[in-house]
Amino acid sequence: TSTAATSVSISGDISSQLHSGYSHPLARSWQAERQLTKSMLIYPLFVSDQDDEEVLIPSLPGQCRRGLNKLIPFLEPLVHKGLRSVMLFGVPMRPGTKDALGTSADDPEGPVIRTIQLLRQRFPQLYICTDVCLCEYTSHGHCGILRDDGSLNNQLSVDRISDVALSYARAGAHCVAPSDMNDGRIRAIKLKLIEEGISHSVTLMSYAAKFSGCLYGPFRDAAGSTPSFGDRKCYQLPPGGRGLARRAIVRDINEGADIIMVKPAGQYLDIISDAKDLGKDLPIAAYQVSGEFAMIHAAAKAGVFDLKAMAFESTEGILRAGATIIVTYFAPEFLDWLSN
Ligand code: PBG
Ligand code: ZN
Repeated sequence: TSTAATSVSISGDISSQLHSGYSHPLARSWQAERQLTKSMLIYPLFVSDQDDEEVLIPSLPGQCRRGLNKLIPFLEPLVHKGLRSVMLFGVPMRPGTKDALGTSADDPEGPVIRTIQLLRQRFPQLYICTDVCLCEYTSHGHCGILRDDGSLNNQLSVDRISDVALSYARAGAHCVAPSDMNDGRIRAIKLKLIEEGISHSVTLMSYAAKFSGCLYGPFRDAAGSTPSFGDRKCYQLPPGGRGLARRAIVRDINEGADIIMVKPAGQYLDIISDAKDLGKDLPIAAYQVSGEFAMIHAAAKAGVFDLKAMAFESTEGILRAGATIIVTYFAPEFLDWLSN
C-alpha cells in the first residue's frame, strides 16, 4: 500500500539505497574509474617473411599470419577506424632461418625491421611496438641463448636481446617490449638506448610479470615458437608467484622501464592491481593473451555467452584492476563496437 511505501522512505536506512546511482545506462558507466577507449588498444600482428602470405591461424579465431604485402591493405581500414597502435611479432617461415643464437631476429631484411620501416612510412600516426624475443628465431624455440647442457645462458641472452631491441629502435619502433624474461634485460636495453642517443624517444615496455602456463598455445601456433624440448618455467613466473611478480615489477621499474605489463590478464587481475600499486606513476599494460581470446571465442561458439558482451566484460575487469593499456586480439572488433 502507499502507506507502507511512505513509512519505508521515512524510517528506512538511507545509506542502503544504491540503485539510484546506476539506474540509467550513462550513470552506470560513471561507476567505472576508467572506460575503454580506442587509444588504450594495442593490436598484436604476426608478420612472416613470406611477403604474399595470408594464413588463418586455426587456434586463434579470425587472426592471420601475414606477409608485408598483405599487411598494408589489412591495416588501412583499421587505422581509418581509429587503430592507434600495433605490436609486431616476426615469424620466419623460410627454411634455414633459425639457429641457436636467433641471428635472424634483427636481420635488416627480416620481417620485423622491414615492417617497422614500411608502417612508419605508410601510417605516420601509428604507434609501433615491437615484441623483443628470440623464441621465434631460435632453432630450439627458447627465449634466449642456451648453454651446452640446455640451460639458459642469461648473460649471452641479455647481450643479444638488447642488441635486437636496439636494432628495432634504430629502424623506427616507437616502443620496444622485451618478453623474454631474462634477468637484467631492461637495464641492458636502457643503457644501449642511452649510449645510442635515442633513449628519449623510445619507450621501453617491460613484460615484467609474465607467467608461464597453458594460455600461450595459439600464439605459439601462429609464431612457430613452441620450444623443441623442455618448457619456459625457469624464466617465466610460476602462476602462484604473486610476491615474485611484485619483485619483478619493482626490479623492472628500477631498471628503467617506462611501462609495466602483466600477462596473461584475466587470470592475473590481482597482479595488475599490484602493478598499479607498485608503479603508481607508470602506465600499466595488460596482455589478454591468445589462450584467453580463444577461450572466449570457444565459449561464445558453444552458446555460453555473447562474444561482444564477454569481450567487454573481460576488458572491464582488466581496466578495473588498474590497466590503462590493453594488448588484445579483439582490437579490430572494439574499433567497430566503440564507434556505435
Ligand atoms: C614471446 C611471446 C609469447 C607471447 C608474447 N610474446 C609466447 C611465449 O612466451 O611463449 C604470448 C602472447 C599470446 O599468447 O598471445 N616470448
Ligand atoms: Zn620468447
